[in-house]
Amino acid sequence: MARDKVILAYSGGLDTSVAVKWINETYGLDVIAYTCDLGQGQDIQAIREKALRTGAVEAIAEDVRNLFVDYFAFPSLMAGALYEGKYPLATALGRPLIAQLMVRVAREHGAVAVAHGCTGKGNDQVRFDVTFQTLAPDLKIIAPVREWKWTRTQEVEYAAKHNIEVEATKKSIFSTDQNLWGRSIEAGILEDPWVEPPPETFQWTVDPRNAPDEPEEVEIGFERGRPISLNGVDMDGTTLIETLNKIAGKHGVGRIDHVENRLVGIKSREIYEAPAAVVLHEAHREIEFLTLAKNAMRFKTLVSQEYSDLIYNGLWFSALHQDLMAFVVSNQQYVSGVARVKLYKGHVMIVGRKSEHSLYRHELATYEEGDQYDSSAAQGFIKIHGLSQTTQAKHQMLKGPGGGRLELPSIIPPSPGAK
Ligand code: ARG
Repeated sequence: MARDKVILAYSGGLDTSVAVKWINETYGLDVIAYTCDLGQGQDIQAIREKALRTGAVEAIAEDVRNLFVDYFAFPSLMAGALYEGKYPLATALGRPLIAQLMVRVAREHGAVAVAHGCTGKGNDQVRFDVTFQTLAPDLKIIAPVREWKWTRTQEVEYAAKHNIEVEATKKSIFSTDQNLWGRSIEAGILEDPWVEPPPETFQWTVDPRNAPDEPEEVEIGFERGRPISLNGVDMDGTTLIETLNKIAGKHGVGRIDHVENRLVGIKSREIYEAPAAVVLHEAHREIEFLTLAKNAMRFKTLVSQEYSDLIYNGLWFSALHQDLMAFVVSNQQYVSGVARVKLYKGHVMIVGRKSEHSLYRHELATYEEGDQYDSSAAQGFIKIHGLSQTTQAKHQMLKGPGGGRLELPSIIPPSPGAK
């Protein structure tokens, strides 16, 4: 008799390979392995075959890079989403998509459960579980690694006992996750936040010291906040990111070292490699500087922060996300143009920008001929602008001995070495 089925997010690594057998034994369920290509640079067909060799009754592998770029990576770029001002959220953006696709597969196969290989310490379990609970509350969630509580040695012993390929899944010294938008590297020696990441941490970026001695210029075109071209050539998002990852990585651009606040209460030291994401965020922001009104820019920073927290915290499928995205899409309607960027030994330098919707108006900014700015209006403006402060100074701050509270040293303590 056919057994009930579970859809397992399968990476081909040791944890999820062991999980296939462990779920069979512990829950009496047949495992359907699900693997998707988010641009992590793995051969998903090979992973699919490994799943079948490992005991999955069925294995599904699909390329969803375009979905990931168009609905996850680029919208997050438009939103300016950098968690705590640093992390472009590659892993956090991938999880809700994987979980959503797994729910679809679960429905197609009449599965009763879904499973993932996350530990009980990280953010990824939250992102998977919340998405499953939101989209398919009837499905049971199984998290073998969180449940079996084995040491590494016990896990390898279990694998050996059940003839699960271990060599092919040689564990890296770090815990990593990757997709088109970036690589996340953690654990091992990186757990000491004082230790400089060793060379083997990085795979997509060269050591900036070994980067070319000549800077390389790239031009990135945007339309309504989305990247549409690279060096004047129109490109689909996936190709653009893949190409830019290579170009920027060659110049050592995109390394991020972050002690971040996890949702689950701990601080953790994370290294990211996100060459394309780093360049695109810089370039995109530059077009915003040119095309967004001042108050829209100020307000957008609030939305960016709220949005990145929400994504990091696994709340992709919330109404607030849709509300914020409605703002972002509206806010980005004039964010079109081209940014000129130079890449040089780990640095991204903006050297130029242009847009048909530019709010930088030469006739207002120039000190040369053709100036249309009305300087005579400035005097009155300044009087009114400063009125609140000058009134307060006159009636409060300047009163009292020695010039009152506006004397120099009154607030700022002298530096310790000052005589
Ligand atoms: N700290 C990052 C995040 O929470 C990256 C997690 C990486 N995951 C992994 N399995 N190594 O988004």
